[in-house]
Amino acid sequence: MYRSHNCGELRETHIDQKVRLGGWVQKTRDKGFVTWVDLRDRYGVTQLVFDEDRTASDLIAKARELGREFVVQAIGTVIERASKNPNIPTGNIEVLVEELVILNNSKTPPFTIEDETDGGEDLRMKYRYLDIRRNPVKNNLIFRSKVAMEVRKYLSDEGFIEVETPYLIKSTPEGARDFVVPSRMNEGQFYALPQSPQTFKQLLMVGGLDKYFQIVKCFRDEDLRADRQPEFTQIDCEMAFVEQEDILNAFEGLTKHLLKEINGVEIDKFPRMTFDEAMKKYGNDKPDIRFGMEFGELNEVAQHKDFNVFNSAELVVGIAVPGANSYTRKDIDKLIDWVRRPQVGAKGLVYVRCNEDGSFKSSVDKFYDQEDLGKWAETTGAKKGDLICVLSGETTKTRTQLSALRMELAERLGLRKPEEFAPLWVIDFPLLELDEETGHYHAMHHPFTSPKPGQLELLETDPGAVRANAYDLVLNGNEIGGGSIRIHDKETQGTMFKHLGFTPEEAKAQFGFLMDAFQYGAPPHGGIAFGLDRLVAILGGQETIRDFIAFPKNNSGRDVMIDAPAPIDSEQLTELGLKLDVPLK
Ligand code: AMO
Repeated sequence: MYRSHNCGELRETHIDQKVRLGGWVQKTRDKGFVTWVDLRDRYGVTQLVFDEDRTASDLIAKARELGREFVVQAIGTVIERASKNPNIPTGNIEVLVEELVILNNSKTPPFTIEDETDGGEDLRMKYRYLDIRRNPVKNNLIFRSKVAMEVRKYLSDEGFIEVETPYLIKSTPEGARDFVVPSRMNEGQFYALPQSPQTFKQLLMVGGLDKYFQIVKCFRDEDLRADRQPEFTQIDCEMAFVEQEDILNAFEGLTKHLLKEINGVEIDKFPRMTFDEAMKKYGNDKPDIRFGMEFGELNEVAQHKDFNVFNSAELVVGIAVPGANSYTRKDIDKLIDWVRRPQVGAKGLVYVRCNEDGSFKSSVDKFYDQEDLGKWAETTGAKKGDLICVLSGETTKTRTQLSALRMELAERLGLRKPEEFAPLWVIDFPLLELDEETGHYHAMHHPFTSPKPGQLELLETDPGAVRANAYDLVLNGNEIGGGSIRIHDKETQGTMFKHLGFTPEEAKAQFGFLMDAFQYGAPPHGGIAFGLDRLVAILGGQETIRDFIAFPKNNSGRDVMIDAPAPIDSEQLTELGLKLDVPLK
């Protein structure tokens, strides 16, 4: 037996017991007459001790030769520590070693394997297996496992069946590009990896499974961000014989369960907000409602004077930044530079200081008097001591810019508290979205989403106005899930494809299997998919999903540890019937 105990469990009650431990050498301290070794495993750190009075000299010599990250087995007796360490659970004891087996040695690791490491991101990604030995990464993976277990437990208790769907499929339109896999047996043909199991879960409803879920990998070739990976995991769910209300209740239940079990937070009822309201109040379809700073539209109170910038703008809109009247001129100049950065793209920023004596001082005092500015304060909800920040321009762009400013300021002011949880359902999404570049409409959620009852006709006259039975679950300003009630008849699905610019032939070629299935008794159905990586990160009080994935890709979509993607040799290409126009790298 390698181990009788792990490195995190020995306490004073074990004193005088003979134990066997296995682990990695975290640190060795040699005081001459005594040598200590910190032995680490997944469960904690235990101090091993070798001293001149009680330990054989050849054993002390062996201990002194141990390098960082050597793998050892130590056999010895638990004793009380002379000087205790209250910072670790095993801090009252140590193990007086009688036998030491070096199971493996180690090169000096490229960064220190401690909670605070000296390793940069790239280095840690390259040696991810070493990074996983560090508590912050290890604990995130344990946390993820716990969340996934709770999800499985809850959903299976609710009668959901976990079903696996294939990975080698045909394109599923979720708005990203596909990763494709060439088929050797069908030369010149390709599989696509699923962007989601969307069509399969609908087919499972036609198959009568009634309640499905799957914790499943999805693949999307899109630009990466802190909350996006090219392969990520969904908690994918579908139910038959349901309306929107049933889905919202079912998955509000799951989310509440997780908040309670994982975070000890109880939330009664999740608020709901329409897409239109979210855009108007927060300029964003995934608003962080942990703090206020709601938008105040100022057209009425700001467009009657000689300030042409505002007079010619489609929207003039502001937010009250709490306590920010204390910002110096320099701070505000920096803020103006911040909104002008290309990533935000505002032309400028108008500000109003709300002084403690009730007066106002603005950057546009030339055009507006105290009474005008008082109305701005009223509309934005500004109080004494606040700073009103105002942007103007085309409606959608201006809202997006002010939303970015709102989030940035909230971050700086410490209003985005990770231990606070504010879920929100955003409902009534538009069915279609206009692509400014091509002038074509595409499905805002996906082409299988059903329009709200009675709105199908609107598709002909005013496609942009059609609302869908589509919803997102937002948590702390992040979209953690999205879904919809689906179309379940062939005709409506056909109409939808037509409006999305598919010819009947194209629709048949790509989605004929689904349209066919709809002819054999498809029940009304709908569902949702949560982004598991995002959900776990947010429940864990963070937003970067990479930190909760064992082997993530970097920002260029590379796995720097295994060095993928990589070229394949020409034989393999020939076998696949592929010829490259570009030379092999
Ligand atoms: P959607 O495309 O909204 O819906 O995806 C569902 C959820 O998956 C997460 N997500 C991602 N997480 C990490 N990296 C990515 N690249 C990424 N892309 C999406 C988000 C998102 O809310 N089939 C539909 C669901 C349905 O209609 O039932 C779908 O995939 O948290």
